[in-house]
Amino acid sequence: MTYDFDRTIDRTGSGDVKHSKLKEFFGRDDLLPLWVADMEFATPPFIIEALRRRLDHPILGYTVVPEELWSCICRWLLDRHGWHVKRDWLAFIPGIVKGIGMVVHAFVGHDERVIIQPPVYHPFRLVPQDNGREVVMNPLIEQHDDEGQLSGYAMDFEGLEALARDPRNRLLILANPHNPAGLTWDAQTLRHVADICAANDVLVISDEIHCDMALFGHHHIPFASVSEAAAQCSITFSAPSKTFNIAGVVSSYAVVPNPQLRERFFSWMNASEFADPTLFAPIATIAAFSEEGEVWRRQLIGYLEDNVRFVEEYCRRHLPMIHPLRPQASFLIWLDCRGLGISHEALVDLFVNGARLALNEGAMFGLEGRGFMRLNIGSPRVMLQQAMERLCTAVKEVGSQG
Ligand SMILES: Cc1ncc(COP(=O)(O)O)c(C=O)c1O
Repeated sequence: MTYDFDRTIDRTGSGDVKHSKLKEFFGRDDLLPLWVADMEFATPPFIIEALRRRLDHPILGYTVVPEELWSCICRWLLDRHGWHVKRDWLAFIPGIVKGIGMVVHAFVGHDERVIIQPPVYHPFRLVPQDNGREVVMNPLIEQHDDEGQLSGYAMDFEGLEALARDPRNRLLILANPHNPAGLTWDAQTLRHVADICAANDVLVISDEIHCDMALFGHHHIPFASVSEAAAQCSITFSAPSKTFNIAGVVSSYAVVPNPQLRERFFSWMNASEFADPTLFAPIATIAAFSEEGEVWRRQLIGYLEDNVRFVEEYCRRHLPMIHPLRPQASFLIWLDCRGLGISHEALVDLFVNGARLALNEGAMFGLEGRGFMRLNIGSPRVMLQQAMERLCTAVKEVGSQG
């Protein structure tokens, strides 16, 4: 079966955040939405069908969790990522951001702190802070190619080690793959992080929600799979929600190989039944982590890679002052707009009021994101083309005024 990613779908009436919250977040609602990280593609038909089949039964009462949920997650992680996960390492979590909040409550005292490495997905900072825990930063280090263009980010191991040595710093939250820069971290980097954290009794959350969308021949490496130290010091969170466009179903899972961490975290969750899935979550996950799911996933990746190439080519020809960092995973492009030579505030104004585009502005991921915008390319190419054309026109207008 060939899936149609070119189809434009009108989301009106679905209550989706990406459209419904434009006015609240951007002050106007006539914007092309390329921000919130879900995709404009139809959820795969085999997932919709599985949910519909369940709706054919007239009672939606309390329901047991099918054992198949766990076996299909184990099989998927082994087949996709070569990671042997045991059934009892797994628990359901009601979303990854909520999972981060739960780990903060279960493991981080009010006088303890959380380490993050900006620029990084903003709830890594907001969730601990809003739960009264201090957040300390170990910024990523920009890497540049021979022409001086941003080519990626490296971790500051010295900085991480210095923070890890402080006993108040209890938790590191890692984005693997990285959002917003789309990096797949290599095994050596992950091993180094694990060695530092394990030696200093720092717990690691590895957020692997984007793991099933490695692009251009890159591979996702599960943090806990790189060494025994990594397995023992970490809690991994993942989900089919990004890859299969089912974020609204809310179906995520935790993998905890260390028995002590597992006992503490799972019993904390179970005490309040936080680890009980809704009726629909296992159904959607089992349908996603299937042979059909794998066919869909591969076609999606092909389409996303072409979308990346489209944006790169467009910028090269028409917007050379904007440099898209090629993502190694997922459907987000980190646009380095510093070549435009304008302030971050002017950049945001250019995108929103000039080009009428809704992107995530880079500073929300940390101060290191000033001068950047995060573009969601999980949409039909015509929509991306329209976005790039609007941007080009707006940039020319600013240029002619200046
Ligand atoms: C790195 C990362 N983690 C977590 C989430 C959200 O996960 P959830 O909806 O399960 O809370 C996102 C969504 O954009 C993300 O990019």
